[in-house]
Amino acid sequence: MVRRAPRIDPADLDRALYAAALDDLVGAAIVLDANLRIRVATPAAAELLGAEVPIGASAATLLCGDRPKRPFAEALAAGLSFQALIPHPAGNADDRDQVRVRSVPITVPDRDPPAGWVVYLAMVGSGDGEPVRFHGMWTRDARMKETFRIIEKVAGEDVTVLVRGETGSGKELVAHALHALSPRSGGPFRAINCAALPANLLESELFGHIKGAFTGAVKDTPGHVQLADGGTLFLDEVAELPLELQAKLLRMLETRAVLPVGGREAIPVDVRIVSATHRALRAEVEAGRFRADLMYRLRVIPVRLPPLRERPTDVLLLTDKLIEELNARGRRQITSVAPAAAAALERHEWPGNVRELRNVLAYAFAIGDGPVLERHDLPAEVAELAPAAAEVVVSAPAMAADDDISPELRRIRDALVRTSGNRERAAKLLGWSRVTLWRRMRTLGLE
Ligand SMILES: Nc1ncnc2c1ncn2[C@@H]1O[C@H](COP(=O)(O)OP(=O)(O)OP(=O)(O)O)[C@@H](O)[C@H]1O
Ligand SMILES: [Mg+2]
Repeated sequence: MVRRAPRIDPADLDRALYAAALDDLVGAAIVLDANLRIRVATPAAAELLGAEVPIGASAATLLCGDRPKRPFAEALAAGLSFQALIPHPAGNADDRDQVRVRSVPITVPDRDPPAGWVVYLAMVGSGDGEPVRFHGMWTRDARMKETFRIIEKVAGEDVTVLVRGETGSGKELVAHALHALSPRSGGPFRAINCAALPANLLESELFGHIKGAFTGAVKDTPGHVQLADGGTLFLDEVAELPLELQAKLLRMLETRAVLPVGGREAIPVDVRIVSATHRALRAEVEAGRFRADLMYRLRVIPVRLPPLRERPTDVLLLTDKLIEELNARGRRQITSVAPAAAAALERHEWPGNVRELRNVLAYAFAIGDGPVLERHDLPAEVAELAPAAAEVVVSAPAMAADDDISPELRRIRDALVRTSGNRERAAKLLGWSRVTLWRRMRTLGLE
């Protein structure tokens, strides 16, 4: 007898396909319909939440349980995009893992309220640990501390280390720390950015050239590899190394000798390689852009630096430390950060990580005056994030039932809802200046 395969409901199949596609694109996410019921959940979302995500269930119950304060659920119900940290739904009181939730409305042409929502989920470290300083890097985050521990452990060996992290997350500081903590610290530290030069120049910069190798090669010139002899060579953006140079680098690592451009004889070198990339090297290998054998050589010890948005309590810690640094320059002395400014800093996503935070604070120092860092000292993209306004509305009496709020409050709320919390556009909609909106919000207890 032939066994028939079990029939799959086409709707389930569709759901599984969308979930897989979404998972591939963004990782942990759930899709809600207009009634805030879960329609699709990615496998990564289930993994993050530690349980199957019940399709059809209420998102608020899933994410917020029956806690009395549910600003996230309230914001969704009010049609606002929102970003917040919530306790991990499956965690208990002393298990401090948090989840960062960010909701983005799905709009459909000619339909005003959102047709649904995508809710992005990300795990965030506990973040209430002691601040530590390690070679110029400050953190409270448990994963960062683990990274520091690994660096300390492996610095003394000659193993190659591959640092992975987004731009501005501290990869170069890690490379310096590895050098400083190694027996090579008395030797040279050379850094080269593999993304910054075209292949032929990069080859000569890395491996050197001999006199007459090409037009303009008037004398034998050592490359970075040779100049790092006895020390550490830091290969920044190593994933951008062209394939032919990957082969040459691999040969150098295998033979511990470097062949300059135009040279016949390899010169023995003793270098320790630290490399860094913002890409997943494995994916580059799969795409045929990076040699697998070189990847295995370079990432004997992989080190990952979490981006700033995954370690939210580091934002204010770093803010304090960077303010101390900027105070020392003497133009302005900041002694405190206004709560609204702190909230804006914490809410920002920091795509440029610590470097971006440093730049934002330098901007605030230059723009504002006085001892308090105010929210309006911050650049607009940090100060005026939509979720900030959303939170104001949510935590205010405006969330009360529609009939017992004043008409003015309702007008303001509706304007903010329609502009996803953008105060500038909300003011325009109301025909007010931004200052007027701000003043009336304050009078109504919204600020
Ligand atoms: N944990 C930290 N504590 C204090 N400062 C930090 C920390 N991480 C990074 N910085 C500072 O942030 C800036 C960027 O760091 P770094 O240059 O090491 O980043 P990167 O990952 O190499 O960036 P890119 O990929 O753009 O080269 C530097 O000014 C550095 O001093
Ligand atoms: Mg760098």
